[in-house]
Amino acid sequence: MDFFNYQQNQLFAEQVPLTAIAEQFGSPTYVYSRATIERHYKAFAEAAQGRESLVCYAVKANSNIALLNLLARLGSGFDIVSEGELRRVLQAGGNPAKVVFSGVGKTVTEIEFALNTGIKCFNVESIPELDRIQQVAERLNKVAPVSLRVNPDIDAKTHPYISTGLKANKFGIDINDAFSIYQRAASYSHLKVCGVDCHIGSQLTETQPFLDALDKLLALIDKLAAAGIQLSHIDIGGGLGVPYNGETPPHPSEYAAEVVKRLANYPHLTLVFEPGRAIMANAGVLLTKVEYLKPGQEKHFAIVDAAMNDLIRPALYSAWQAIIPVEQKPQLASQLYDVVGPVCETGDFLGKDRELAVEPGDLLVVRSAGAYGFTMSSNYNSRPRAAEVLVDGDQVHLIRAREQWADLWHGEQLVP
Ligand code: LLP
Repeated sequence: MDFFNYQQNQLFAEQVPLTAIAEQFGSPTYVYSRATIERHYKAFAEAAQGRESLVCYAVKANSNIALLNLLARLGSGFDIVSEGELRRVLQAGGNPAKVVFSGVGKTVTEIEFALNTGIKCFNVESIPELDRIQQVAERLNKVAPVSLRVNPDIDAKTHPYISTGLKANKFGIDINDAFSIYQRAASYSHLKVCGVDCHIGSQLTETQPFLDALDKLLALIDKLAAAGIQLSHIDIGGGLGVPYNGETPPHPSEYAAEVVKRLANYPHLTLVFEPGRAIMANAGVLLTKVEYLKPGQEKHFAIVDAAMNDLIRPALYSAWQAIIPVEQKPQLASQLYDVVGPVCETGDFLGKDRELAVEPGDLLVVRSAGAYGFTMSSNYNSRPRAAEVLVDGDQVHLIRAREQWADLWHGEQLVP
């Protein structure tokens, strides 16, 4: 559930009409709802009540520091994949002791920075990475907390680009090799083995693949315990899907309840979640203006001022996100449009064959744009990146200014 609703044919974010936001901040603009973000976070945090648990929000989904700060204030931890994301978390007032560091390519400098910051855990994805963390920790005279990201070879049945738990993917350590690698890790002087982690993919709409992965992890945990290696946490990653187009993923509380049930015999394990999309996707929309309507022989185009550089999911994954008008015009006849941007690529579309009753100058929103929207945006075609605003009740806060022209060539230099 979110807080973007019509009142008398006008779309509101909480108590603020989107037209007012467009007037004040222009378009394209990302608009987020604080109440929605907090509601989604709490669905996870409260679902696992009764046992030790930690929500480590996946920063890559949306890394604006105002939003990270809202989550930090609720007690959230963070799942990061780069030094940049860790720096954002710190900038936002996040607690490094609640940070887990994922990703297959951690550099020496990133490991140093994370060790000096005092993060909760490195989610280690390979033997060379394990060795590297040991070396860096030894040099800094620190003990690095590590968890192996295990690849359980589970088909998440999602888009191939966002499926990560199969043997064919670059992620994690083959579950069949994990036991011996844990023994290796446990023998290292400057590592402390503390957990196990997996993340099998994104936008999963069923609980079963998660539970299958969990069963494999628990079998590994048993085997390790029998060999004297006790883990203190189990991290089951992110990946819970959201409704974009009628999908019916389990509610976070249902999903978490199933997971909690499976862990009944493991009261000593802290349960860690790494949700990104489930918290942010439906807490944000991309507000855009129709510049032109262009009729064609086969297709009609609504050309808008947002483009693939602002929101790349439709172009990259053929992702479907709802596109709705800010002002409903029941008196106007509707038509099918491809909603496209001004970028010079055929792949520059936000939606195809959408039934809309619109006129030039009207505002539209692309829904479900709070996750993997702004964070995947670029300056392609020298387009300044969009503004971001946060609505909180009847208040609107600018949380990232629209880029200025000079931002486009910031850091570039002429040669003599
Ligand atoms: N943990 C790890 C280790 C991850 O790799 C990811 C996402 C997450 C957590 C969060 O997953 P979520 O709960 O958001 O599904 N750009 C794609 C999604 C890529 C996801 C990558 N990893 C999209 O727009 O659909």
